[in-house]
Amino acid sequence: MKPAFELDRQAAFDVQRVREDFPILSRTVRGGRPLVYLDNAATTQKPRQVLDALAGYYTGYNANVHRGVHQLSEEATAAYEAGRLAVSRFLNTRDPREIVFTRNATEAVNLVADSFGRLKVRAGDEILVSAMEHHSNIVPWQMLCERTGARLRVLPITDRGELVLDELAGLLTDRTRLLAVTHLSNALGTVNPVHEIVEVAHAHGVAVLVDGAQAAYHMPVDVQAIGCDFYVITGHKLYGPTGIGALYGRLDWLEAMPPYQGGGDMIASVTFEKTTYNAVPAKFEAGTPHIAGVVGLRAAVEYLTALGMERIAAHEHELLAYGTEVLQAVPGLRLIGTARQKASILSFVLDGVHPHDIGTIVDQEGVAIRTGHHCAQPVMQRFGIPATARASLALYNTREELDALARALARVREVFS
Ligand code: ALA
Repeated sequence: MKPAFELDRQAAFDVQRVREDFPILSRTVRGGRPLVYLDNAATTQKPRQVLDALAGYYTGYNANVHRGVHQLSEEATAAYEAGRLAVSRFLNTRDPREIVFTRNATEAVNLVADSFGRLKVRAGDEILVSAMEHHSNIVPWQMLCERTGARLRVLPITDRGELVLDELAGLLTDRTRLLAVTHLSNALGTVNPVHEIVEVAHAHGVAVLVDGAQAAYHMPVDVQAIGCDFYVITGHKLYGPTGIGALYGRLDWLEAMPPYQGGGDMIASVTFEKTTYNAVPAKFEAGTPHIAGVVGLRAAVEYLTALGMERIAAHEHELLAYGTEVLQAVPGLRLIGTARQKASILSFVLDGVHPHDIGTIVDQEGVAIRTGHHCAQPVMQRFGIPATARASLALYNTREELDALARALARVREVFS
């Protein structure tokens, strides 16, 4: 499959050049201030290559997939399946059939909780999650436990925001059916050693789902090297469209698991007496899928591949180190999440100032950050705080933008002095 476009992979990472790919970055906010977008963990901005691919689909070959014999439908089907192949390559799956398209990472987790749950989880069984999970990697498992009578157990974290791995083996019992853990915490920035975690879990016969919603746009991901059973991603954080995500599932699991939703495309034959199901992955893709979303997601992962995930990770690593230094110089600021392996997230609290006030004041200076519990209330409870302010980085951010954040935080200090 030929990539939709190519960039010069040998050239040094030129952030100013890369910024030109993102039209939104040149807009101003709050009365003419340059936009400093540091809310990338919530969603990233989209490069022109993705926007063009979306427009190209709707203006050139919009049709339904897997259904028509006409040319447009053939073209749309080819583009949809090329999207699957692109995501399969991006995550290095063994087989493109191991990619199931979903609405987002949340739906991918729900799919596994429902379908794997029906296959494997019974009353008295256990599901293990970590204490740093996003709600979307807690609540679906809790719902599964409520449905089945299984029990949810929790792997704790340290004051730095690292998993207490010494407790992992002890929490994996002969009743544990699945371990669900994030690759990169959206609230703390911790990067978890998922390969090692999978090895321990597999040694106990436990399947592992890795939530890659935050990790996949910051670092190279190789699901075969990680060895996990399931890995979930979302398109809108990968510089792609909203409303599209993907589940990687090991083929043998996907083949054994029952369908998640019923409808068109997921069937082989239907009578009122009995329905038989389509092969993987169609079995899990009921109804007309988000075709444009897949086209856009393909453009996004090919854009990232062309830039080079290693180069993106190196750029962001340097920025994170710089941002950490800059923030630590702000009087009264405390970073929440100081893991030794971290990426892209600077979560913090400021003495005497509510995070929402921080967010509101820095926004007046043109700096977009997120404040709140970041859909990770148990993390906030663990650190004994109601919320944090969070600056989160992406490939197009610069040191100058982190300086702008520091200036905006000085303004917060002035207001509250
Ligand atoms: N999960 C996203 C975040 O962390 C929305 O902001």
